[in-house]
Amino acid sequence: MKDLSAGDLDRRSARLAAAYDPERFARESATVTKLVHDHLERAADRDRPVWPATEPDELYERWPDPESAPPAEAHELLAEVLADSTSQHHPGFIGQQLSAPPPVVGPVAMVSAILNNSVAIYEGAPVATVLERRVVSWMARKIGYGEGAGGALTSGGTLGALTALLAMRQAKSSGDAWRDGLAGGERLTVFVSDQAHYCNGRACAVLGLGERAVIPVPTDRTFRMRLESLRELQRKALDEGRRPVAVVANAGSTATGSHDDLFALADFCGEHGLWLHVDAAHGGGALVSSRYASLLRGIERADSVVWDAHKMLLMPNLCTGILVREARHLSVAFRQDAAYLLAEGEAPWYQPAARNFETTKPAMALPLYVVLRTLGAGYVADCVDYAYDLARAFAREIEERDDFELLVEPESNIVCFRRRGPDDLQVALREGVNRRGRFFIMKTMLRGAVWLRVVLMNPATRIGDLRDLLAELADNEP
Ligand SMILES: Cc1ncc(COP(=O)(O)O)c(C=O)c1O
Repeated sequence: MKDLSAGDLDRRSARLAAAYDPERFARESATVTKLVHDHLERAADRDRPVWPATEPDELYERWPDPESAPPAEAHELLAEVLADSTSQHHPGFIGQQLSAPPPVVGPVAMVSAILNNSVAIYEGAPVATVLERRVVSWMARKIGYGEGAGGALTSGGTLGALTALLAMRQAKSSGDAWRDGLAGGERLTVFVSDQAHYCNGRACAVLGLGERAVIPVPTDRTFRMRLESLRELQRKALDEGRRPVAVVANAGSTATGSHDDLFALADFCGEHGLWLHVDAAHGGGALVSSRYASLLRGIERADSVVWDAHKMLLMPNLCTGILVREARHLSVAFRQDAAYLLAEGEAPWYQPAARNFETTKPAMALPLYVVLRTLGAGYVADCVDYAYDLARAFAREIEERDDFELLVEPESNIVCFRRRGPDDLQVALREGVNRRGRFFIMKTMLRGAVWLRVVLMNPATRIGDLRDLLAELADNEP
């Protein structure tokens, strides 16, 4: 193959630069900003559906192969994306633990995507690295951790659980598990609430502990771990020659938003030398609230905490804090030489790649930092309080009706309930509601029965909407 001349190369570079034209970008982004503006206006319209309810195969056909399809303008494609997507800003989006981020995160995402700095080493992402430390320190302070705490941001609660339990494995296995694996048939055992999110069991399996290392601890009427059962299971595990090493507690369980007694669990773990990990992926947001922070009393005694900012802190996906009471546990969790990227020996704070799974990582701290600086922590706290208060008000509405049943008093913003009747009825009611599209709701299986489940994340959802939901559920025969 013949080498190109310098002139040929320059001409080619000039041709490729057309896609980078700042004027073109300014025009395109102004058009898209208007589209997003219109989307937000439409999302506030209760008469429009939450989602388009298109069949998967039909939608797939509408999005042709990217190479063979005719060329399009970005704004044309993005208009279709907005039209065909689920609208989390709609007041009827009450199904999943997903936020309706304040629109200021849009410009933040734009800057972040264009800069495309990777939060691995300081030189590659100076501001994002510094902001990650600021945000992690802020989270650690909200937890109540002291000076020695450490942490990192990672891509979601599932990876957060893996990271926290990796730190636990290194601290609690008798050898050097990072270097040698779990040598000597050590049967490390982890007690996990029977209401724990599956990511905790998945993490134990991935870490080579084996899924059978995970012992589910029964919960009580309010879905909190029974301490008596935990004590019994601990004794039994020791009798069986296992080595209990950790307890995974819920600060906001996925199904019902219930909170374990972290203070009592910290006592138990202290007594038996166990690592206490708190899954506050959902409920961590209450730490910013003066009204509800007490739900997490004792969290400052946990060895590790996972806290998803993309749930109750209004953030777009993904931004998860992994916090450890003693920073050294996270520093030793990943111990590798990589002369092409990392400094030798103990990584300085401004080298985040040494403390999380990812290598290339976006500026996860940026939207949270901007929201805290612009709208304020008080605004975020108001949103948490509103969501939790709304859940309580909804629970009262359910209790006042003879045709509905409340599963448990909500502690946070998740409400499980059902129309009196068999399981099939709940399944059919949910399908009907989601098909009609005024609301998007979920269901779950608890105590051997099917329950409808709503999660109130969006400050635009009002009590009147929830009354409308009950009316729709009561009036419509499936
Ligand atoms: C309590 C809890 N932990 C962990 C997770 C997993 O988090 P992510 O979806 O960010 O991976 C969830 C998700 O809903 C959750 O509710």
